[in-house]
Amino acid sequence: VVSLAGRDVLCLQDFTREEIETILKTAEMMKIWNKIGKPHRVLEGKTLAMIFQKPSTRTRISFEVGIYQLGGYGLYLNAQDLQLRRGETIADTARVLSRYVDGIMARVYAHKDVEDLAKYASVPVINGLSDFSHPCQALADYQTILEKKGRIAGLKIVYVGDGNNVAHSLMIAGTKLGANVVVATPEGYEPDPKVVKWAEQNAAESGGSFELLHDPVKAVKDADVIYTDVWASMGQEAEAEERRKIFMPFQVNRDLVKHAKPDYIFMHCLPAHRGEEVTDDVVDSPNSVVFDEAENRLHAQKALMALVMGGIKV
Ligand code: CP
Ligand code: NVA
Repeated sequence: VVSLAGRDVLCLQDFTREEIETILKTAEMMKIWNKIGKPHRVLEGKTLAMIFQKPSTRTRISFEVGIYQLGGYGLYLNAQDLQLRRGETIADTARVLSRYVDGIMARVYAHKDVEDLAKYASVPVINGLSDFSHPCQALADYQTILEKKGRIAGLKIVYVGDGNNVAHSLMIAGTKLGANVVVATPEGYEPDPKVVKWAEQNAAESGGSFELLHDPVKAVKDADVIYTDVWASMGQEAEAEERRKIFMPFQVNRDLVKHAKPDYIFMHCLPAHRGEEVTDDVVDSPNSVVFDEAENRLHAQKALMALVMGGIKV
């Protein structure tokens, strides 16, 4: 039996394979309960504070709807409207919020901000995207892969594009779960070397593999999954034009996906920048699972909240 009660969720590297599999199993259960209309108010009366330093569609809505479906309440807090803007520290904010709420979810620029929240809060802190990682996204991604492919271990999962937060979490979880993860980026836009090292270590333990390439065609050869994300993340707007030129050879388009397995699935955390990192014919093709993936944010995060904020043991 695995218990995650009280745990912070900043980066999936802090979790064992068994713990990640427990979250995925719970997510599957949450989805079934949701679909058959079985009440599952396992966080009755609990409150989640949701701090946002950046915009969001999926993260905000799936957390807010998710905590509501679990019988709790989600409090949307724009960081600009908090005293944080006038210099109250993250540490003091964390201490104060801990006196009111049962969990904190935060979307921040600097990863250190979620680490500081977790350090000073006495309630669980969930990372809703930082410049370093996007653990909730990766949980929904692997739930989706499992649904579509029936397994994760042994699959060739290829990320093409910027070595960013989304790439980091996909690499970490995939290599823990025994997948063969390949990342192809332009030179100079590789994932953080620390994450590459983790991915290699994880793969050695799980029986999976990790490879970092600069050739998108070679990378996607016989892929089961092709994944991409925006070329200029939130906070990198000033680099957008320069990045457009550098990343164009990494666009996921009809020509590139021809090299994958015929039954490959296309994934993207969304929002998609159509005509940039992906073309319409790919994102709208029958191989694309992007909206199932977006839906699974709800189920995966409900599982996560139930496990860390509640007493569910699986
Ligand atoms: N994928 C994702 O996190 O989307 P939002 O930015 O809309 O939350
Ligand atoms: N890499 C993107 C993901 C958005 C969900 C960003 O950080 O803006």
